[in-house]
Amino acid sequence: MSFWNRHKIFEKNASILIAGILVVIAIGGLVEITPLFYLKSTIEVVDGVRPYTPLELAGRNIYVREGCYLCHSQMIRPLRDEVERYGHYSLAAESMYDHPFQWGSKRTGPDLARVGGKYSDDWHVRHLTNPRAIVPQSVMPGYPSLAATELDLENVGAHLRTSRAVGVPYTEDQIANGKTDLKAQLDPDGADAEAFQKRYPKATVRNFDGKGGDPTELDALIAYLQMLGTLVDFKLYDEKANLR
Ligand code: HEC
Repeated sequence: MSFWNRHKIFEKNASILIAGILVVIAIGGLVEITPLFYLKSTIEVVDGVRPYTPLELAGRNIYVREGCYLCHSQMIRPLRDEVERYGHYSLAAESMYDHPFQWGSKRTGPDLARVGGKYSDDWHVRHLTNPRAIVPQSVMPGYPSLAATELDLENVGAHLRTSRAVGVPYTEDQIANGKTDLKAQLDPDGADAEAFQKRYPKATVRNFDGKGGDPTELDALIAYLQMLGTLVDFKLYDEKANLR
């Protein structure tokens, strides 16, 4: 039998054909999967990305608890209309410390991946309390209770520790000082502000809900919203990407 006729062996016998298919699929699988065991991470390292501060992390918890993700995505796709509306497309590294990530696909409201710095804190205070006070047609619910609810500080350290267990590189120092750091981020003149800033360089220190006193849920949520999308310098990132 000539070499080119050998395929008949496979075509005339279903069991041999199935075995052949399995062998071919296994080779494809190995080629795709084996390299992943040798890579430490498939996420590109990007300058500026850092773990959340305890206050931002608490705000993120409230974002998840209130179901903001049901109406807001946090992922800008690399399509022209999205990039023109929301800014630079999202990078994997930007959500590498999110457990779980908040990409989403439902957009009743706009994408929030780059909302940080777009509005003032005061805008957020008023918008979150009553969206229609600012955008008359808005269908977003108001969250007036956030301003009146003190933040639960009991589990700050435990949450940092748990985040570390799933890969967020919090140091022992950061975990031990979780509660202090959370309060310190709200008080630029406080005694702990400097130590906080050392542990979280470049994090913003200010009072987010516009009222002193104990940290509220509104403080945490606005701290979180105001840092979204602000970590990476995209001018630099694109310059580097062009050189690659
Ligand atoms: C029922 C859907 C819905 C839910 C739930 C919802 N939003 Fe919205 N959101 C909207 C809509 C619609 C808009 C656009 C109109 C407006 O600005 O109010 C919006 C706008 C926003 C904006 C302004 C975005 C921009 O770029 O102008 C922010 C910030 C925001 N929402 C945050 C939140 C947060 C935080 C939560 C959870 C506490 C939340 N939203 C829950 C629908 C929703």
